[in-house]
Amino acid sequence: MQDAPLSQDKPILAIRDLHLEFHDHGRPEVVVEDLSFELRRAEILGIVGESGSGKSMTALAIAGLLNRHALDCSGTILFDGVDLLHCGRATLRRYQGDEISMIFQEPMTSLDPLQRIGMQVEEALRIHRAELSAAERRKMAIRAMAAAGLPDPEQVYGMYPHELSGGMRQRVMIAAATVLKPQILIADEPTTALDVTTQAQIIALLRTINAEDQTAIVFISHDLSLVRQLCHRVIVMRKGVAVESGASDEVFRNPRHPYTKALVDAIPKVVLER
Ligand SMILES: Nc1ncnc2c1ncn2[C@@H]1O[C@H](COP(=O)(O)OP(=O)(O)O)[C@@H](O)[C@H]1O
Ligand SMILES: [Mg+2]
Repeated sequence: MQDAPLSQDKPILAIRDLHLEFHDHGRPEVVVEDLSFELRRAEILGIVGESGSGKSMTALAIAGLLNRHALDCSGTILFDGVDLLHCGRATLRRYQGDEISMIFQEPMTSLDPLQRIGMQVEEALRIHRAELSAAERRKMAIRAMAAAGLPDPEQVYGMYPHELSGGMRQRVMIAAATVLKPQILIADEPTTALDVTTQAQIIALLRTINAEDQTAIVFISHDLSLVRQLCHRVIVMRKGVAVESGASDEVFRNPRHPYTKALVDAIPKVVLER
């Protein structure tokens, strides 16, 4: 793990009392309960917890992608002086893909199978930089693809998703998410569908993006060893509640909450000792 950014850095994102509750089938189901945390500039923040603990719902809330149907939301998500939880669609769209981007576990489902890779990497440019010419867009897309570690980006630009491996598709998603160098990148289980070697490469890429562009990253995973390798700070969630948070080295070396202890004990020893 790299050094944490200066702690006096102002938070770029402040989440206060985030509360998300479904009410679709009879009994309301609270999925995120009074969650508060901050993300600092250039910080990599991990959110861990077993499946169903509310990690993805939290990620979608930050990215402004919650499907509000049958969902009650309260609290605030402050970015740039705006409450992303309560602002209008137009305001959200101003930030999405420009200042705040998100990548998902399975890039095949988030990529359009019928559209060439280049078009998809350029999407945020068409939305947020309409003044650019097609040639300028292409240049920026290819630069982002090269930065995301895609070999021969000029060729990949004209390819379709099915022609690429899972790891390459995730790199395409990362290129599309970072083409405008957002302040915040939200990565929800971005390596879960990948083999161990590819997983390590994607983690290294996220670390480079963070270091070179000062992009703050919210890294969501149920894999504690990955979080420990990558993240400066970590939040442990259980059933919608943050049960513990702190510097990730500290939390993993000296877990306080019994749930965190159980998660840490479940990490294979060989990984911990690396
Ligand atoms: N449409 C829905 N109606 C009711 N509950 C839902 C709905 N979608 C998700 N949930 C519940 O929200 C909880 C949190 O889900 P999620 O954020 O995806 O967890 P995680 O990403 O940590 O695995 C889960 O218990 C899930 O069952
Ligand atoms: Mg999830």
